Amino acid sequence: MMQTQKIQQNQLYKAAELLCQGEVVAFPTETVYGIGASIFLEEAIQKIFKVKGRPSDNPLIAHICDLASLEQIAEDVPAQFYTLAERFFPGPLSIILPKTKEVPSIVSAGLNTVAVRMPSHPLALELIRLVGSPLVAPSANLSGKPSSTQVSHVLDDFEGKIAGIVMGEPSKEGIESTVVRIINGKVEILRPGAVHQEELEATLQQKVSIFTPSKDVFGETLPSPGMKYRHYAPSARVTLFFSVDEALKQSNFPSKQMILTNHKGVVGNVFPLNAASFYFYLRLADAERYEEVQIICDPITLLNKGLMNRIQKASGF
Ligand code: TXA
Ligand code: MG
Repeated sequence: MMQTQKIQQNQLYKAAELLCQGEVVAFPTETVYGIGASIFLEEAIQKIFKVKGRPSDNPLIAHICDLASLEQIAEDVPAQFYTLAERFFPGPLSIILPKTKEVPSIVSAGLNTVAVRMPSHPLALELIRLVGSPLVAPSANLSGKPSSTQVSHVLDDFEGKIAGIVMGEPSKEGIESTVVRIINGKVEILRPGAVHQEELEATLQQKVSIFTPSKDVFGETLPSPGMKYRHYAPSARVTLFFSVDEALKQSNFPSKQMILTNHKGVVGNVFPLNAASFYFYLRLADAERYEEVQIICDPITLLNKGLMNRIQKASGF
C-alpha cells in the first residue's frame, strides 16, 4: 500500500512531479477520470496495466495539450485528422494515427498505431503541459467496472494503489471519448461517444461509418481491442427494455431494484437516464448492493449512440 496524495487544483505541480518520477496519477477530464502516466516511461505504464488489471493487448490513448507535440508520437498524419482536430480539439474525440517508433509498444499493445486525444478539461491540459510529454490515460476504473466520473469513484478503485489524484469536480460528459480511425481517407467510428456521427460527417463533408463487430469475430480481427471486453458493468444484474410495457411484463420484481428511464409515469425507484449520470448510478447500484438495474430506453436515449453503446455493454446485450 502507498499513500494516495490528494492533490488540490492549485498544486498541480505536485501531480506533474509524481508523473515525471514515473508514478501513476489520476486526473479529471471532460469525459471521465483517467489514470495517467508519461507516454515515455514504460515502467510507469506497466503500473497502470497492473493496478487496473487491464489485459496487455488493450492499447492506451495518448493525451496531448497542443498539436506541436503530435510529431513526437504520430507520423503520416492524414488530412482528415487536421480537419477533425480543428473542429473538435480540445474535446472528447480520440483519433487513431500511425505511431512513431518513440511510442513504446506497451502503449499501443503491439499495434503500429496510437490513439491521440486533446482533452478540453483545463486541469488535464495544464497537467500535460507541466509534465512536458503526452500522458497515456485509460479510464480510472478497475478493468471491467464502470468508468469513474468523480473523485470518490477513483478512490474506491485505487486508493492506496496509485501515487496521487488531482481533485476535480464530477465529469461533465460522463461517458468516454469517441474513438475514430482513418483508413485511406475513410473515417470510421470504433467507439461511439460524446462526439456524434452526424457532427463528424458535417465537419468532414463525407460519410462516417460506425464499426459494428459481428458476434462471431470476437478475437484478433477486431480493430479496437477494447471492443471484445465486456465493459462498464456493475455487479448488479442489468436488464434492458425498449418500452415500459415490456419492462412491466417481463420483470420478476426483485426486492432491490433501481430503474433508469426518462419515461414519465413509471413507478418505483426511478432515476434519470443520461450520459452524464449513467456510470454514477451503476456504481451507486453496486455500493448499495442493488440486485437489479432495470433500464427502460426512451426516444431521446435511443438517439444517443454513445450512451446506447454503454447501456448495451452494461447489460451484456
Ligand atoms: O474519454 C476517454 O477516452 C477516457 C479519458 C480518460 O480520456 N479514456 C479512455 O481510455 O476511455 P480507455 O483506455 O478506457 O479506452 C480506450 C479505448 C479502448 O477501447 C482501446 O481499445 C481503444 O480506445 N484504443 C486505444 N488505442 C487504440 C489503437 N491504437 N487502435 C485501436 N483502438 C485503440
Ligand atoms: Mg475504459
